[in-house]
Amino acid sequence: MAQRNLEWYSVHTYGVALREMAQRNVEWYSVHKNSVALCEMAQRNVEWHSLHTNSVALPDPYTIFVFADLFDILVFLISVDSHPLQMETAAQEILTDKTINPVFQRAYNVRGWVNTRAYEIKHEMALGERKPFDEVVIHYGDPHAFGQSPITFLRQCLACLLCPQFLNDPQFPKDVKEKARRILKATPGFAISSYTNTFGLRLIREDVAKYISRRDGYPADVDDVILTNGGAIGIQIGLASLGTDMPNGKLKPGLMIPIPVFPQYKSRIVEFNLYEIPYYLEEENNWSFNIGEMKKAIDKARPHCEPRGLVLINPGNPTGQILSYDNIREVIKFCVREKLVLFADEVYQETVFIKGVPFHSCRKVLRDLGSEYNDFQLMSLNSASKGFYGECGLRGGYLELVGFSNAVKSQFRDMMSPSVSGSTIGQAAMSLICCPPQPGDESYEIFIQEKTAILESYERKAKITTAMLNSLEGVTCNEVTGALYAFPRIRLPQKAIEEAKRNNHNPDGFYCWQLMETTGIVPTPGENYGQKEGTYHFRLTILPSEEKIAPMYERLSKFHKEFMDKYKDNKEN
Ligand SMILES: Cc1ncc(COP(=O)(O)O)c(C=O)c1O
Repeated sequence: MAQRNLEWYSVHTYGVALREMAQRNVEWYSVHKNSVALCEMAQRNVEWHSLHTNSVALPDPYTIFVFADLFDILVFLISVDSHPLQMETAAQEILTDKTINPVFQRAYNVRGWVNTRAYEIKHEMALGERKPFDEVVIHYGDPHAFGQSPITFLRQCLACLLCPQFLNDPQFPKDVKEKARRILKATPGFAISSYTNTFGLRLIREDVAKYISRRDGYPADVDDVILTNGGAIGIQIGLASLGTDMPNGKLKPGLMIPIPVFPQYKSRIVEFNLYEIPYYLEEENNWSFNIGEMKKAIDKARPHCEPRGLVLINPGNPTGQILSYDNIREVIKFCVREKLVLFADEVYQETVFIKGVPFHSCRKVLRDLGSEYNDFQLMSLNSASKGFYGECGLRGGYLELVGFSNAVKSQFRDMMSPSVSGSTIGQAAMSLICCPPQPGDESYEIFIQEKTAILESYERKAKITTAMLNSLEGVTCNEVTGALYAFPRIRLPQKAIEEAKRNNHNPDGFYCWQLMETTGIVPTPGENYGQKEGTYHFRLTILPSEEKIAPMYERLSKFHKEFMDKYKDNKEN
């Protein structure tokens, strides 16, 4: 042993040797006679030495031997014998559902249980289970998932960006190739796959600023524009900025959100430890804002939080309403009085299709209010996912920071810098949305045809949807004027409510679940968005194709009638 300079250790259970061996990844074996370790060592022709004190190994000057009493050795050998390669300290689960960051513990699935069940049903069908329907149709706001075709010029341009050889291909329109070349020139290395700076390519931010200027009639500043991976990241960074560390027993920062609300807001409130201040949209007044109610809501919350921001969603999700100019102006004034940053989620600004019901941006209304409002702070959100473009998966979007100092904007940059840069394809999509083909461009005609066809189809489907819903017993629905959704109220019979409670479900969740299991149509229950106590709703999207929508609504109407008959309140009972 001395000649071969082997290291060996006693196996005293309390010895430091084992720990040290573990740290140094030294292999070791128990030496129990029946040990599997011995067999393995024999197979591998490994020599081993007994621990007998008279062993020839002991006098070896190069070994470290910590003598252990025989009892300790015995206990140890018995305990480890069946795990010959096990170290003294077994690997432990460090991160459990109880020790994981509390932010993760607080997180919840914003899509809800009905949606989870919908995916289970899809899986069951894929495994061959028979259902009373052929297809599961989940009603979410993803136009291409419903078969809506992408806008041609946008995809052609992306094709040129990804395969620059198409830049010389005569099949691609000239204006498309020019747009692609212009974007590529702005990238490092004439390559769409390069990183960009944190806020995105300056050229594209300029495109966005020009789009905003055209839209509002007031110049926008390129330095106010941050390109984001979809609207979701704009929400994340915007709301994150409103949080505080709350040192010295300060109150939580409060955020006013409309109810019903796009569920992402609730989950970000949980994530950033904000205090939710719900304000209810007025359903009977076409889901408009009621400033008196908003004032009551903030006054009630003030003892519990320090209100810092207000979220407005226009056009609305899930409500499908477009706010009037006056309503927006009132909200801006309310924010001034209450010292709130306004977070305007305007991702559906291009998804307006009813003549005479235009979209007004918060920024335009703000600028119309005059220079007195120059210091007003507004964050305005847009996305490539919605509208007739519907490019959900490309992850394009922007956040405009209006009225924020350069110091704050550079703090946004610092905060976002670890993410390196946004998706370049998403950035390019945003550029193309902001710079569509113009009259005289080769791709203009097709672009206008495609855009008009999609918006006209939305208009027809919105009307059919509103009419169908209003024809159902106990259901009322405001006209769908924008965004992609109808959010009807349903007055459920008492028996249905009781049955839902027996099943531990919210009544509208129960209704949606039953509808899904019977027809394959998957609406989202009102409970996911929040609603006034004692009222029930569900959300449908107008996105299914016109061929599919009529038979789908027939199935829905038939189910509804059967459901209402089954749970009819029987006055005689
Ligand atoms: C109101 C609203 N805001 C923001 C988003 C975020 O969309 P995306 O992250 O796809 O841009 C959505 C998506 O449905 C939405 O409905």
